[in-house]
Amino acid sequence: MTGASGGVGTRLRELLPAIYPDLVLSDLTPPANLSSKENFRQADLADLASVEAICEGVDGILHFGGFSVEGPWDTILQANIIGTYNLFEAARKKGVKRVVFASSNHTMGFYPRHSRIGTDVTARPDSRYGVSKVFGEAVGALYADKHGLSVTCVRIGNFGDQPLDQRRLSIWLKPEDLVQLCRIGLEHPDIHFEVLYGASYNERAWWDNSRAYELGYRPIGRAEDHRAHAMAEQAKMPADPVADFYQGGAFCSLEFDADQNSVWAPE
Ligand SMILES: NC(=O)c1ccc[n+]([C@@H]2O[C@H](COP(=O)([O-])OP(=O)(O)OC[C@H]3O[C@@H](n4cnc5c(N)ncnc54)[C@H](O)[C@@H]3O)[C@@H](O)[C@H]2O)c1
Repeated sequence: MTGASGGVGTRLRELLPAIYPDLVLSDLTPPANLSSKENFRQADLADLASVEAICEGVDGILHFGGFSVEGPWDTILQANIIGTYNLFEAARKKGVKRVVFASSNHTMGFYPRHSRIGTDVTARPDSRYGVSKVFGEAVGALYADKHGLSVTCVRIGNFGDQPLDQRRLSIWLKPEDLVQLCRIGLEHPDIHFEVLYGASYNERAWWDNSRAYELGYRPIGRAEDHRAHAMAEQAKMPADPVADFYQGGAFCSLEFDADQNSVWAPE
């Protein structure tokens, strides 16, 4: 598991060892509370030789490492574009059979909130970060089709113990539900190349996640159970016409200088 020291990785370090006792962790720096029972291999994803070294003897990869928000082009380029390419190339060279790639809702951020989308629509990234995740999905498809890796891209909504505002009532992903999606990616016999949404059972969902359900996904998180808290938090936030219109939220209004009256908005 790359990104082991990050927010998702830290939580999954609690949940995964019971399922995968031989879990190997990787990141730029070790998790602060690394225990003697854990197996950590340091690597910068931007360095192919280091990534090859961490792939040695590995059956499957959960790829959570990378720059996880909008950032300067060179930062995104190194961590997410070069880093994700290196990850797949190292996996191929070392005979890794399966990769689960942490994609993002920001690949689709410029779809308006009133549209419901599946995984068969054109990408509408809302940031350089979102572009890098579209790239990652494309590299995953290439390595599945050309080299026979089993690849699952999970377009994570927002990972956490509860949805924190109105937008996140639509896109929330409970940690235990991400574990289910990781298990599908690592274990399901029918995986060639899949794109799934990383969302719990959210009644306000904007996404058709039927493929995940076909593969056995049964999320236990229900966003509406946290509605009161999320809406109370939302009430404290200032209105943002661009962010509030699009699925990607604040990533859409960041650096936005198009004409708001002629924004792209399919029915
Ligand atoms: N948290 C979410 O809700 C969410 C939503 C959508 C997608 N994602 C994706 O899931 C993954 C994990 O998210 P997170 O919230 O834990 O992010 P995070 O920023 O907390 O953790 C990312 C980790 O990647 C590591 N990293 C960054 N650059 C690296 C490099 N060059 N080499 C090696 N490691 C590097 C960082 O050190 C960090 O520990 C990310 O890829 C993120 O884009 C997360």
